[in-house]
Amino acid sequence: MARLRVGLIGGGGPGSFFGGVHKRAISLDASRELVAGALRSNPRAAMQAARDYGIKGYPSYQALLEACLKGKEQLDYVTIVTPNHAHYGPARAFVEAGIPVLCEKPMTMTVAEAQDLARLVKRKRVPFVLAHTYTGHAMMMMARELVHQGEIGEVRKVEAWYNQGWLATALEKSGQQQASWRTDPKKTGLSNCGGDIGTHAFMAATWVSGLAVKRVSARLNTFVKGRVLDDDFNVVAELQNGATALITATQIAIGYKNDNGFRVFGTKGSLEWRQEQAESLLLRRGAHDEVYWQGANFGYIPDSVKPYLRMPAGHHEDFFEALANLHLSMEFMIRRRRKERVPAPFAHPGVDAGVAGMRFVAAAVASSKKKGAWTKV
Ligand SMILES: NC(=O)c1ccc[n+]([C@@H]2O[C@H](COP(=O)([O-])OP(=O)(O)OC[C@H]3O[C@@H](n4cnc5c(N)ncnc54)[C@H](O)[C@@H]3O)[C@@H](O)[C@H]2O)c1
Repeated sequence: MARLRVGLIGGGGPGSFFGGVHKRAISLDASRELVAGALRSNPRAAMQAARDYGIKGYPSYQALLEACLKGKEQLDYVTIVTPNHAHYGPARAFVEAGIPVLCEKPMTMTVAEAQDLARLVKRKRVPFVLAHTYTGHAMMMMARELVHQGEIGEVRKVEAWYNQGWLATALEKSGQQQASWRTDPKKTGLSNCGGDIGTHAFMAATWVSGLAVKRVSARLNTFVKGRVLDDDFNVVAELQNGATALITATQIAIGYKNDNGFRVFGTKGSLEWRQEQAESLLLRRGAHDEVYWQGANFGYIPDSVKPYLRMPAGHHEDFFEALANLHLSMEFMIRRRRKERVPAPFAHPGVDAGVAGMRFVAAAVASSKKKGAWTKV
């Protein structure tokens, strides 16, 4: 099978963070190759960044798209790794052109943009993956499978959290790139902490449980002086079956790096997973606990998860592999459309999950402004 040709939008330049992670994730399986990109907003810097990556450069995503439309560039899909305000424009343009998109989260700046994008993706029937990296961890995928197979019974309560400490001080005042745009409402959207990492906790709560959020009561805090947006995000949510979810995120928890995880409490058992120890999943049944270890050689790994494991147990697969798994799902979708023989893609978050994430954040912001009043999502 020919390698898929991938384009990158954003993610270039010496100070950028997640573009380099996508670059490695794209090539991890050697069945996909990063070939072209519009890697920065400044055209000259974009061309230099492409030279640094050793790929064909374009001064803007519009120029990249034009080359695709004229047949001068052949891309199987594009990956969007720009700050939040620059997701919707390129995502819409490439989907409109029929080119699949793997887009960073939060999907857009507003609910209206998210809904518009979802309508377009459905109309054009174009594969679309939302880059909630943690859902690519095999043990988080397994947790979703166990819930869906009824292993823990009816879900009664969910806790999902994401604690970081890197914005406990006014880092943005130093000009630090990632802090600067994340704290700027024009580039990040309605919410800083909620949009950036609260959406990951939201995805853990809803994607693993398979339950949507109906309404929320939220308290958002801004601890660091001078900030306009939240740096601490706390939500009590009612799920569609009446269960309660506590969905929290913070950037002011000094000493915490990426303390992201979840617990799901059901009528027959409980599940627990932490991304900083991503290789194991704990299932408590009451009398004794069971630990599932990640490993391609273990028979208990569901068939739906097996194609996403690359190593026998004990050799670590972690963050790059998790992100690569989202690219692998995109690859499976594209190849199956071409009738190539590949496994079925796992149900990783797509455009509807992106809409749900945007609605959740908007409802949380509105609820917090009304002192935590219950607000429909
Ligand atoms: N899924 C995850 O786990 C995860 C982790 C980190 C970041 N992210 C997301 O990835 C995105 C980027 O975050 P980051 O931390 O890498 O930011 P960053 O500031 O490090 O990188 C942003 C990049 O986009 C480029 N850029 C900005 N505007 C552009 C435009 N109009 N056209 C082309 N390029 C443009 C910048 O030059 C830079 O290279 C954000 O949406 C963020 O939420 C997701």
